[in-house]
Amino acid sequence: MNNINSELTRLIENQKDNFPLEQKFFTDKQIFEEDFKHIFSNQWVFIGHISRIPNKGDFFITEIANESIIVVRDRGGDINCFYNVCRHRGSHICTKTEGSLRKLVCPYHAWTYNLDGSLSNASMMDDNFKKEEWSLIKCNKNIFEGLIFINLSNKPSDFNEFISPLKPFISLHGLGKSKIALRKVYEIEGNWKLALDNFHECYHCHPSHPEYCDVHSKDYIQSYGAGSNTGPESLSFKILLNDWNKKVDKLGYFRGEYSENKFSNFYRSAERTPFSGGRLSETKSGEPASKLMGKFKEYDGGYTTIGPSPFNSLIMSNDFATCFTFLPKETLKTVVELMWLVDESAIEGVDYEKDNISWLWHETTLADKRIIEDNQKGVLSKEYSPGPLSKMEIGLEKFKNWYLEILKKSINQPSY
Ligand code: FES
Ligand SMILES: [Fe+2]
Repeated sequence: MNNINSELTRLIENQKDNFPLEQKFFTDKQIFEEDFKHIFSNQWVFIGHISRIPNKGDFFITEIANESIIVVRDRGGDINCFYNVCRHRGSHICTKTEGSLRKLVCPYHAWTYNLDGSLSNASMMDDNFKKEEWSLIKCNKNIFEGLIFINLSNKPSDFNEFISPLKPFISLHGLGKSKIALRKVYEIEGNWKLALDNFHECYHCHPSHPEYCDVHSKDYIQSYGAGSNTGPESLSFKILLNDWNKKVDKLGYFRGEYSENKFSNFYRSAERTPFSGGRLSETKSGEPASKLMGKFKEYDGGYTTIGPSPFNSLIMSNDFATCFTFLPKETLKTVVELMWLVDESAIEGVDYEKDNISWLWHETTLADKRIIEDNQKGVLSKEYSPGPLSKMEIGLEKFKNWYLEILKKSINQPSY
């Protein structure tokens, strides 16, 4: 067993139930690299929506740890994902984060690639040089309802198997016929697991998120999830949910919940939940915020939350969707990208206002950035040691156990 594996084995054995992770999990560069290899790289993660690159030649770049992925629409209208690595001597090819281009030209020695990844020109190479052998390396990609999912593994899990339980939840909202109303990027000086721990519990909502607490009822926050996946049960919330389920059945819309019922390499969850207090949308006033999306013909007073993997989340009202992507960058740096989707026919200023649809999660993410960064500072101290979790942090414990299980497996099968 190599050094990192024996250290991980020791740390995992020391780990106590209902306590957060040991310090090194949040501060150690080698563990970050193991996480990236065994956790992030094995997940299907959406990194954008097709409406970000509507025209031929449009592209954007997504960066995760040391990887940079080019997402580009080719001449035939297909979306391709390539590793941003020149096949000559490895330079990054795209150095801008987004734009539009006719060909991908490496800035170093000008090898030039078509938008389908094939090499179109490399000057002064030998006569026996075969261009067709030097196409860009494709990254595994799948598009579902306009969401562009990538998977960095050499042996990716089956996409259909991955997406199948989430399909009815996503399809209800018609994201395939939506467009990006707004994107915002938040750089957090903290380890990706601290960022996600924060996202997996609402114990901090009362002290840190007045906006969230205005929109969502105390009963929901304390139970934090229809299926009580992430918090203790709340009887009053269950009653609200039961009544709402009957109403949704009458309207004929999909409802329900999904979570992994046994250990899986996937970490998926989904649920449909009622708002309280007569709200129709996740806005400050609770009033509708844009055109109805997908299968909705009228407001059902609820919303849908989906976690396709630890690195994504979708929180969808009937009329707009907030999409989260968490990208681990460095041991102490995580980027959170938020994208707000509205129906493709909705017009800004007429049907929706950016500030209205983004208000809750923009304010909440700014607060989360601050508390995660403060958390990271304390976790770096020589005096940090994990303290006991509250019963409102069940979600965090669940995520930790899943994470440790994957690491344990990776120690026995150290492959990508
Ligand atoms: S490294 Fe790209 S052309 Fe040389
Ligand atoms: Fe938060």
